[in-house]
Amino acid sequence: MKMPVALLLLLALCNAIKVNGEESNGQCNHKLMLDPRPHSVSILEFGAVGDGKTLNTIAFQNAIFYLKSFADKGGAQLYVPPGRWLTGSFNLTSHLTLFLEKGAVILGSQDPSHWDIVEPLPSYGRGIELPGGRYRSLVNGYMLRDVVITGDNGTIDGQGSVWWEWFTSHSLNYSRPHLVEFVSSEDILVSNITFLNAPAYNIHPVYCSNVHIHNISVYAPPASPYTVGIVPDSSDNVCIEDCSISMGHDAIALKSGWDEYGITYGRPTTNVHIRRVDLQSSSGSSLAFGSEMSGGISDIQVEQAHLYNSLSAIEFRTTRGRGGYIEDIIISDLDLLNVHMAFGAIGHYGSHPDDKYDPDAFPVLQKITLKNIIGANITVAGNFTGIEESPFTSICLSNISISINSASSTSWVCSYVSGFSESVFPKPCPDLENSNTSSSCISLLQPNGRSAVL
Ligand SMILES: *[C@@H]1O[C@H](CO)[C@@H](O)[C@H](O)[C@H]1NC(C)=O
Ligand SMILES: *[C@@H]1O[C@H](CO)[C@@H](O)[C@H](O)[C@H]1NC(C)=O
Ligand SMILES: *[C@@H]1O[C@H](CO)[C@@H](O)[C@H](O)[C@H]1NC(C)=O
Ligand SMILES: *[C@@H]1O[C@H](CO)[C@@H](O)[C@H](O)[C@H]1NC(C)=O
Ligand SMILES: *[C@@H]1O[C@H](CO)[C@@H](O)[C@H](O)[C@H]1NC(C)=O
Ligand SMILES: *[C@@H]1O[C@H](CO)[C@@H](O)[C@H](O)[C@H]1NC(C)=O
Ligand SMILES: *[C@@H]1O[C@H](CO)[C@@H](O)[C@H](O)[C@H]1NC(C)=O
Ligand SMILES: *[C@@H]1O[C@H](CO)[C@@H](O)[C@H](O)[C@H]1NC(C)=O
Ligand SMILES: *[C@@H]1O[C@H](CO)[C@@H](O)[C@H](O)[C@H]1NC(C)=O
Repeated sequence: MKMPVALLLLLALCNAIKVNGEESNGQCNHKLMLDPRPHSVSILEFGAVGDGKTLNTIAFQNAIFYLKSFADKGGAQLYVPPGRWLTGSFNLTSHLTLFLEKGAVILGSQDPSHWDIVEPLPSYGRGIELPGGRYRSLVNGYMLRDVVITGDNGTIDGQGSVWWEWFTSHSLNYSRPHLVEFVSSEDILVSNITFLNAPAYNIHPVYCSNVHIHNISVYAPPASPYTVGIVPDSSDNVCIEDCSISMGHDAIALKSGWDEYGITYGRPTTNVHIRRVDLQSSSGSSLAFGSEMSGGISDIQVEQAHLYNSLSAIEFRTTRGRGGYIEDIIISDLDLLNVHMAFGAIGHYGSHPDDKYDPDAFPVLQKITLKNIIGANITVAGNFTGIEESPFTSICLSNISISINSASSTSWVCSYVSGFSESVFPKPCPDLENSNTSSSCISLLQPNGRSAVL
C-alpha cells in the first residue's frame, strides 16, 4: 500500500465526538464536542477510481484498515473527493470521520455478490423480509466508538431500483440491505450529507447509544417499496434534528425487536429526541412507532415537525404476541398537511417472525401525549384501535385543530382505548374524553410535563 499523505487543509473539518453528559432537557440539547482529527487520507491514495464503473470496495476496505492504526492517536479522516465511487459493502472503524466532499457520491453496487450475507439480528431472529440471513449494509459499523459520517452535502446513493424490483417480484434470496448500519456502537454522528435510493432503510442504528443525526436529506421515490429513512432500533440517547426525509414507506420508524426474539433480547429504544424535521411518507407513516417494539419504546420527545403528503402522520403499531410497551411519548408542535390519517394506534398490525411467538404476550401502549397540532386537508383525524385484552390507556390530546376534507366519512374511530382530551377539534370519540383519565393526563399536559418523563 502506498504511504498516504495527510491532507492538512482538511484538519479543521474533521472532528472526533464527545457527548457532553450534563443534564438537559432532551437528547438534542446535549452538546456534541468535536475534537479535530489529527490525520486525514484521501480514498484516491488507495487506488479508488471515481468513474461510476470501477468497483472500489477493496480501496475502501484498505483505507479503513490503514486508518485503524490511528485509533489511539486521535483518530483519522477518510476523505472522499468529488466523483462517483461505486462500491460493495465495507466496514468502518472507531475514531473515524468519513467525509464526503461536495460532488462526492458513494454508489452502492447493483450486483448482489458485492454484498455479503450476514446472520440475522438476535432481536429479530430472522431477516425482516425473508427467513434466514440478510445482506450486509453498504456502510457498516460493528462495536465501534466515535464515528462521524459527514461532508459538504456529499451523497450516499444506494441505487436501490434493482432491489425494489427483486422485492416486488419475490426474487430476493435474502432480506434487503440498508445504506448505513451501526450495531452495538456508541458516539455516532451523521450530518451534512444526502442519502438517496436506499435498497431498504437509510440509517439503522441497532443496540447503539449516543447517536446524533443532524441536517441530512433523505430521499427515495414514492413507489419504492418499504423504504424507510431513519430507524433507531433498540438504541438509546438518540437525537434527530434539522432533517428532511421523503420516503416510499416510513420517514422515521422507532423499533425494538420482533416478538419472542425481541422480548428475549430485551433492549428498548429510549430517550429519543426528534425536532425540526420535515417528513413525508407515501405509503406509510411520517413518524412510526413499531410495529416491531418487543424490547419496548419509551421516553420519546418529538417537537416542531412538518408532516405532509403522507398516508399517516403519526402511527403507533403493535399486535398480540409482540409483548413490550410504547409509553411516555410526548409529541408537540406539529403542522400536518395533505395526510390521509393524522393519528393512528393500531393493535393488530404486522405479522410474526414464525409460529413460536407467545399469543399471550400482550403489548402495552400508554401515556401518549399529542399537543399543539394543526392539520389541513386530513381525511381521518384519529384511528385508535386497541387490543381487547390490553386496551390502550392514557392517550392525552390537547390543543389540536384538524381540518377534515370532504373525502372523510368519520373523523375519529376508537375501540379498546381510553384517554383525555381538551381543546381538540373535531371532537374526538367519548373514549378519549374520559375524565377518569384526566389526572394522569393533566400532569403530562403541563407546560413542563416533559420533565416528568424525560
Ligand atoms: C466487517 O465486519 C464484520 C463484523 O461485523 C466481520 O465479520 C467482517 O469480516 C468484516 N469485513 C471486513 C472486510 O473487514
Ligand atoms: C446543512 O448541510 C448543508 C450541506 O449539506 C450545508 O450547506 C448547511 O450549511 C448545513 N446547515 C447546518 C445548519 O449545518
Ligand atoms: C444536496 O445535494 C442534493 C442531491 O445532490 C440536492 O438535491 C440538495 O439540494 C443539496 N442541498 C444543499 C443544501 O446543497
Ligand atoms: C437468487 O438465487 C437464484 C439461484 O441461485 C439466482 O438465480 C438469483 O439470481 C438470485 N437472486 C438475486 C436477486 O440475487
Ligand atoms: C455541518 O455544516 C455546517 C455548515 O457548513 C458546519 O457549521 C457544521 O460544523 C457541519 N457539521 C459537521 C458535524 O461537520
Ligand atoms: C389533499 O390531500 C390529498 C392526499 O391525502 C391530496 O391527494 C390532495 O391533492 C390534497 N388536496 C389539496 C387541495 O391539496
Ligand atoms: C396551540 O397550538 C398552536 C400550534 O398548533 C400554538 O401556536 C398555540 O400556542 C397553542 N396554544 C397553547 C395554549 O398552547
Ligand atoms: C381503523 O383501523 C382499523 C385497523 O387497522 C381498520 O380496520 C379500519 O378500517 C380503520 N378505520 C378507518 C376509518 O380508517
Ligand atoms: C369513571 O370511574 C368511575 C369509578 O371508578 C366509574 O364508575 C365510571 O364508569 C368511570 N367512567 C368512565 C367513563 O369510564
